[in-house]
Amino acid sequence: MTYRDLPTAGFVSTLQEAGLDQDSAGFAAALDASIAHGDLETNSQDLAQLLGRPATPLADVVRAAQGADPLVGQTGMGTIGFVGAGRIGTALATLAIGAGYDVVLSNSRGPETLNDLVAQLGPRARAATPAEAAAAGDIVVVTVPLKAYGQIPVGPLAGKVVIDTSNYDPGRDGHIAELEDESTTVSELLQAQLPASHVVKTLNTVYFEHLTTLSRPHSAPDRSAVPIAGNDDTAKKTVTTFLDAIGYDAYDVGALEKGWRYQSGAIAYPYGADGSFEHPQPADAERLASLMAQAKRSRDR
Ligand SMILES: NC(=O)c1ccc[n+]([C@@H]2O[C@H](COP(=O)([O-])OP(=O)(O)OC[C@H]3O[C@@H](n4cnc5c(N)ncnc54)[C@H](OP(=O)(O)O)[C@@H]3O)[C@@H](O)[C@H]2O)c1
Repeated sequence: MTYRDLPTAGFVSTLQEAGLDQDSAGFAAALDASIAHGDLETNSQDLAQLLGRPATPLADVVRAAQGADPLVGQTGMGTIGFVGAGRIGTALATLAIGAGYDVVLSNSRGPETLNDLVAQLGPRARAATPAEAAAAGDIVVVTVPLKAYGQIPVGPLAGKVVIDTSNYDPGRDGHIAELEDESTTVSELLQAQLPASHVVKTLNTVYFEHLTTLSRPHSAPDRSAVPIAGNDDTAKKTVTTFLDAIGYDAYDVGALEKGWRYQSGAIAYPYGADGSFEHPQPADAERLASLMAQAKRSRDR
């Protein structure tokens, strides 16, 4: 997480919310501000580039100094579980590892079919079953064809933040009546399937090849935003922190039901000149806001 854009008081209270006492939060804020002086950014992605290895967030260093958490063998960034390790899963796992997270990947065919991908991603990646990946993740990304929603492990996802990247494609997923008549939305279907989880709809608007090419460090002038929607504000904050670490701003569209505004077909492709996939270009929150205002239900198209 990068705090440098917050006023000092906001910075301190954010660190306190993360579990630091007031003195430690004040110390961490002052230290981070002084590192930031001279245009050195202190988010974990930038530090990782400078250090050549995953960086430990300052708040975790302070917590460890307080004796609250051991630092040995961890970066403090946490683990991202993946149910689905195809094009989007692979691109997001690559970004997550670059930001210092561990990843646990799963698919429908079994962990052994992911050996090559795990080898390619390196020591921060491992393969598991969907239930194990769901249990291991601090955040779990569900990135499967919609027709597989019924097979997502429910129990291990209880209480967890679940990112849903899915789009509805009747040609692939079959016709789903509630989506055809627009009585619900794609991610509300997943939320209904996972009633004890906190589903956040995001990253479904970016073509998989563009996920890595459009990722930018915090405060880069050409950084892109991605829409997020969800019914739980804390879960949205958690996802916003994750998005920040992997190179994106979040544009909050509201509750999960508002997710229709960026389901496939509702808006032009945000990250391409003239809405085309061929010429990727960054899209900031302002562009997303303008697209969302023009979003069309399929019955109105
Ligand atoms: N491709 C894009 O550019 C893009 C962009 C935005 C959103 N999306 C959406 O994101 C989702 C994923 O897209 P994708 O392109 O990454 O798909 P993909 O390349 O076809 O990969 C799908 C992954 O889901 C796994 N899977 C399927 N059924 C499963 C099950 N029952 N349990 C666990 N894993 C299962 C597959 O594993 P197996 O191979 O073992 O079956 C595979 O790893 C889709 O809903 C898609 O519409 C895609």
